[in-house]
Amino acid sequence: MIKVLFVCLGNICRSPLAEAIFNHKIKDLGLDHQFKSDSAGTSDFHIGELPDERTIKCAQNNGLKMAHRGRQVNRTDFRDFDYIIAMDDNNLRNLNNLKVRYNFPDKEIFLMRDFVAGEEGLPVPDPYYGNEEGFEEIYHILDQAIDHFLVKVKEVHQIYA
Ligand code: 4NP
Repeated sequence: MIKVLFVCLGNICRSPLAEAIFNHKIKDLGLDHQFKSDSAGTSDFHIGELPDERTIKCAQNNGLKMAHRGRQVNRTDFRDFDYIIAMDDNNLRNLNNLKVRYNFPDKEIFLMRDFVAGEEGLPVPDPYYGNEEGFEEIYHILDQAIDHFLVKVKEVHQIYA
């Protein structure tokens, strides 16, 4: 089982949407028995909450189901997940600090858009203080970045699908 964790700040907008997109794609590819995904936030702002209603609406508009409840990244995540993927630089910095504090100094943390050639270092922008269009924008960014991530991960693990 390859375990993938998507991480943003609040775990109510970007990362649960990434998780839903990823789950949809692996199901389509018939790879759902080989992957397990989850999402989490670096903050404790929205623990136990459903995704933002704009996230849920965006997911529904794009044919995705969500059943996630907000949670904060914890120590065992660094042990349990093969791929921990941050949405932006802030998340990346926080995760790189946490991995040292939790004694996983060698754990590689990935940045979502680094999987897309030409988009290295760019953020999946935080849509929280914006409008619904921002959610559609991050949906498209995530959709593409996850396609690229899947190409890479299938190659690394020699999965042919
Ligand atoms: P997310 O968006 O990190 O994509 O879930 C945010 C959600 C909540 C807050 C900020 C960003 N907040 O400040 O509460």
